[in-house]
Amino acid sequence: MVSQISSQLDGSIVSGSDAKASFSDIQAAYDAGLPLFSKDALRAMGAQPQQYRDGTQDKTTLRAIGVDGHEMDYIADAADRKHIRISYESIQALTTGDGLWEGVLSNQKFFAAAFAHITEYTGQDSSQEDLDVATVAERARINEMPTTGLYTAFMDETNKWKKTEPFMHEMRRIWDANKVASAGVDNIVAFACGPLIWNSQIAVHSILQHALILSLRDYLLEKGSSHVDDYPCYAQDPAYSDRDKAVLGSLGITTLEDPNGFLKADDHSIVLSFYPNVPVKQIIADLCRPAVIIWGTPMDYPCTDPDSTRVDEMLQKEYDRVDLPYDDAFHPTVMYCKKT
Ligand SMILES: C[S@@+](CC[C@H](N)C(=O)[O-])C[C@H]1O[C@@H](n2cnc3c(N)ncnc32)[C@H](O)[C@@H]1O
Repeated sequence: MVSQISSQLDGSIVSGSDAKASFSDIQAAYDAGLPLFSKDALRAMGAQPQQYRDGTQDKTTLRAIGVDGHEMDYIADAADRKHIRISYESIQALTTGDGLWEGVLSNQKFFAAAFAHITEYTGQDSSQEDLDVATVAERARINEMPTTGLYTAFMDETNKWKKTEPFMHEMRRIWDANKVASAGVDNIVAFACGPLIWNSQIAVHSILQHALILSLRDYLLEKGSSHVDDYPCYAQDPAYSDRDKAVLGSLGITTLEDPNGFLKADDHSIVLSFYPNVPVKQIIADLCRPAVIIWGTPMDYPCTDPDSTRVDEMLQKEYDRVDLPYDDAFHPTVMYCKKT
């Protein structure tokens, strides 16, 4: 069944007491094990916003695939092609009505992944008003920085961090102790490491989160215990600029359009995720069982990447938790290694 929903949210979304009744249906379906996310649905949805954004598809109707295969057409706003994206809802957002779509349709079908015009990923200056002349000039320099300049900034920040912070030394000790090199890893997939320039400033956190991906790859290569010659590294964040993509590509990190990172992640991945604006934990828990996971410590709802009963169950039953040393660049982060 296909229901039409316009970008203005037409009458096919229920609200109020009707919606409340459906929230318990969604919770019951979830508790019974119904996956909110599947690779098939994300694959079917994936190419559409990209084609629509870059103009290779002119249709304004994008088709979302719901949790048990039902479909919904989203009428995109042709005047705002740039911002059309997949929107993801956590189980908490779906069952409280906090989500963009309230998760609930009048026909009792629901969508944890749908389409929306999302405008939050700009990374541009909000205001220059209160800045002194030197700061404005410095921000202009950073904004206009060529790819080679950003590459140099990336290497400078990474080298400084490796020399001065005990974090990497401790990380390697922890990876050794937990046999990460023999965990059957084939690839590294990272989410939400952020653009390398944010708000016209070098985003040191983001640089170091990407540096961790490369450190992991180098560690695995150095240990040489794998059946693969190289460890492809992938990173998904819709906020990357073309300049970010060029720098990361030259360092050996392939940037992927959403949702291709979710499609790449599998049981042989190391998955990293640093405080995403989408429920990465819940998506991953439905899609695969990565060999190793590094992501933020458990977070209660409301937040954009909450844990859930399903995430908790996966981590508790199937993984060993390893606390990681604190470093500002990663916020509180924890590692999970699949039990052998
Ligand atoms: C709170 S910021 C965190 C950025 C960075 N990790 C940090 O620690 O500063 C959330 C990030 O999630 C990213 N994000 C939003 N939607 C995403 C998606 N579908 N896949 C991956 N990243 C996404 C945003 O672009 C943004 O960079």
